Amino acid sequence: MKILVTGGTGYIGSHTVVELLTEGHEVTILDNLSNSDKRVVDRIEAITGVRPDFEEGDIRNKDTLDKLFSDTAYDAVIHFAGLKAVGESVQKPLMYYENNIAGTVNLLKSMGEHGCKNIIFSSSATVYGTPAFVPITEECPKGTCTNPYGWTKSMIEQIMTDLCISDKEWNAVLLRYFNPIGAHESGMIGENPNGIPNNLMPYVTQVAVGRLKELGVFGNDYNTHDGTGVRDYIHVVDLAIGHVKALSKLKAGSGLSVYNLGTGQGYSVLDIVKNFEEATGVKIPYVIKPRRAGDIDECYADPSKAEKELGWKAERGIKEMCADSWRWQKNNPNGYDD
Ligand code: NAD
Ligand code: UD1
Repeated sequence: MKILVTGGTGYIGSHTVVELLTEGHEVTILDNLSNSDKRVVDRIEAITGVRPDFEEGDIRNKDTLDKLFSDTAYDAVIHFAGLKAVGESVQKPLMYYENNIAGTVNLLKSMGEHGCKNIIFSSSATVYGTPAFVPITEECPKGTCTNPYGWTKSMIEQIMTDLCISDKEWNAVLLRYFNPIGAHESGMIGENPNGIPNNLMPYVTQVAVGRLKELGVFGNDYNTHDGTGVRDYIHVVDLAIGHVKALSKLKAGSGLSVYNLGTGQGYSVLDIVKNFEEATGVKIPYVIKPRRAGDIDECYADPSKAEKELGWKAERGIKEMCADSWRWQKNNPNGYDD
């Protein structure tokens, strides 16, 4: 298939492009490089032997989109482009609503006008808010998000739902990711956050490589087996493969589909520290800190719907996730500048 991948030089997008090219799909990446590096395209080529087309541009620019869809009859769009820093979204809500929501509406308009009505969207387990129950199935009601970033995901889901109701030619797959970590086994692409990482695994790897002194564990009084927060960490390559499998859902008449992409297994912050140390032999010093605002006790998926309907199941375990995160960080201590 001919696929347009928005945000394709980013962390999850780049891993998905690798899997798409490996399966023989033709890929164009559209990315404004606001949170990624053009050298990712060289790395993707080095891994796969195929160079994807790359267009530097913004999903908020309708002319850019119209030109892409006029030049090529894409079968589908996989839509990763978006801003994702939770704290920043609280400080700059309009920037998030404008980039993520206005950008997506622009994309959907251009797609519709050019007759490309198949889309896979990067949603998040954050739409469940404080989950009504765990493990979380897709029937779990959506909840109150704790930040504008989360609301953009929840609202975009609604926009795509309404679009599929209004016009039966649209097919949309909403993929609700749990916590992606890890990196391609080559160590050539991986997560490259700007500034001090907010998320657990990049913080751990930066402590391991000596860029940060120690990990702060945000709270040890949660209602979990060791008091620290429990999440469903999923290897980014498994997540990427989930997107390739989801392409099969973009058939006439499918309409809207929703899937959790997680492993079904929860790990606490201290479980992650222990597994990282065992997988890599590197010690992670840590201190217990107060809870972080907006965090919940536990969040993990029931991923059985994706297995049943897409034939997809996460295959990579926690040790592999830790070892692959570490290989990427060790080989690229300063990200793509190395
Ligand atoms: P990322 O920041 O690495 O990738 C996003 C990419 O989109 C970047 O390359 C950025 O330059 C690009 N981009 C942003 N705004 C753009 C615009 N207006 N026009 C064109 N390109 C633009 O993030 P990621 O971790 O790879 O996440 C990909 C998607 O998955 C995002 O939508 C994110 O919200 C969603 N998601 C991520 C996680 C996670 O934990 N990483 C969890 C759930 C959902
Ligand atoms: C966070 C976001 C979520 C977003 C996801 C991916 C919040 C409340 N949630 O999820 O909306 O989709 O990132 O970007 O911000 N932890 C530490 N020390 C750290 C970092 C994290 O103890 O330095 C703990 C957290 O308290 C949590 C766990 O590690 O228990 C995972 O945190 P994180 O990686 O930030 O992911 P989430 O909070 O699940």
